Amino acid sequence: MSALRQQRKSDVLMELAKRRGIFWPSYEIYGGVRGLLTLGNVGFEIKRRLENLWIKYFVYSRNFQIIESPVIGPRPVYVASGHETQFTDKALKCGKCGAVFRADHLLSEAGVTIPEGASLQEIDEIVSINSVKCPNCKGDFSKAFHWLLMFKTEIGAGSGEIGYLRPETAQGIFTEFKRLYVHGRSSLPMGVAQVGRVFRNEVSPRQGPIRLREFTIMEVEFFFDPDSNPGPSEEDYLKHEIPVLTAEDQEKGVTGFRKMRVKEGVETGLFSSNWIPFFLVLTKSFLKALKIPEDAFRFREKLPSERAHYAKQLFDCEVLLESWGWTEVAGFAYRTDYDLSGHMKVSGEDMNVFISSSGRRIVPHVVEPSFGAERLLYALLEHNLRIEEDGRICLSTPPYLSPFDVSVFPLLSKPDFVRKAAEVARMLGDFKVNFDDSGSIGRRYARSDEIGIPFAVTIDHQTFSDDSVTLRFRDTREQRRIGIGSLHAELSKLLSAPKPDV
Ligand code: GLY
Repeated sequence: MSALRQQRKSDVLMELAKRRGIFWPSYEIYGGVRGLLTLGNVGFEIKRRLENLWIKYFVYSRNFQIIESPVIGPRPVYVASGHETQFTDKALKCGKCGAVFRADHLLSEAGVTIPEGASLQEIDEIVSINSVKCPNCKGDFSKAFHWLLMFKTEIGAGSGEIGYLRPETAQGIFTEFKRLYVHGRSSLPMGVAQVGRVFRNEVSPRQGPIRLREFTIMEVEFFFDPDSNPGPSEEDYLKHEIPVLTAEDQEKGVTGFRKMRVKEGVETGLFSSNWIPFFLVLTKSFLKALKIPEDAFRFREKLPSERAHYAKQLFDCEVLLESWGWTEVAGFAYRTDYDLSGHMKVSGEDMNVFISSSGRRIVPHVVEPSFGAERLLYALLEHNLRIEEDGRICLSTPPYLSPFDVSVFPLLSKPDFVRKAAEVARMLGDFKVNFDDSGSIGRRYARSDEIGIPFAVTIDHQTFSDDSVTLRFRDTREQRRIGIGSLHAELSKLLSAPKPDV
């Protein structure tokens, strides 16, 4: 058996990611900064395609709006949203060496369990009872405190106006709600999406590409009237089965998820809004398009003490990863009218809308599906990485999520082969083509497989007699003969992405 097959898949992936330009830790020449990641030529393209697929599933298929708002926001936005006081982690600082730790991480690494949602005072007591010391210098900790997870900045010169880098794109949608509602023809329900960079000043991230201080979020703020549109009018979503771990089950000590028909969850009142299971079903369909196996993801209802400050109910979509176990890749929050009401209070702008069918004025409610793009990218890569019997690495990602659509190779590096291959590559110009004429053909196939290029076209001796080429399939290594004239149409078919199931 090849030595590579005995290694952990996640270790093989981390090595491949650096070597082949997928991702790596940033600023290594200056010693690196934890929680910051650079995507290379390969990783950038896979992530861009992942974002496009998400937009297709979560925006275009529902006819939602999509916008782009600034990453910097003035302080009142984050006062109104509650982030300035609530978006914090509990932390402990060593009185001797000054190192700061996330309290829950430090205590669990010291083998001490803390109750969910423990207060600062409880943490201090736990530290004192268990004589927990700084793991760096054995110094004593000063009192536990709230660490603000937002990056603070100043807007303009000398004005002293405080600004924050956004921790979510959502507030850029809520603050523009009145205008977006008009753009959405003044009717509910209405979805508005945003894909963009967000920033979280994590205390001390130690999970490589999983816990980042800057990352891309893909989210929809879905506005509705809980009385006149409490859930989707098409009932198709009810028949789907989803893997769920409820808060009630967790409180009973259950750790495994169970498959539940959405109808059952709706009828038993599991969901505080029926828009939540609708988005869970859409997510299941999206994860199928990423080839994440059905037994490797679940929707876990968060316990009350784990919920974000704005959420009446929150489900996480968790994917099972080799190094990090069940890992959150998306959250589904019922935010009620919390955010719009907050902005109404602080800005003084009226966020009510008129519901003509009932003659009422209401502040719309919101359900929010929110995805972390880099975590999804990592999950996509880990679940699609194959190490073959012969030790070859094959990134078996779906064709529409590959960094190039097709490789084009001349069999030999002779000028007439290279010229013909360049001509075929030009003919395939609206695909993303990886043209490679260096080294042996075997090495070129191996390089192409390693970064997940699904198809390879090879110009060989026969090409010159009948204008045909070899079309090679990455996953099976099968080779088929095909006329150059049919290549474009065949590749279009092979590269097409699926559509959502709801
Ligand atoms: N908007 C989702 C989040 O902040 O995680």
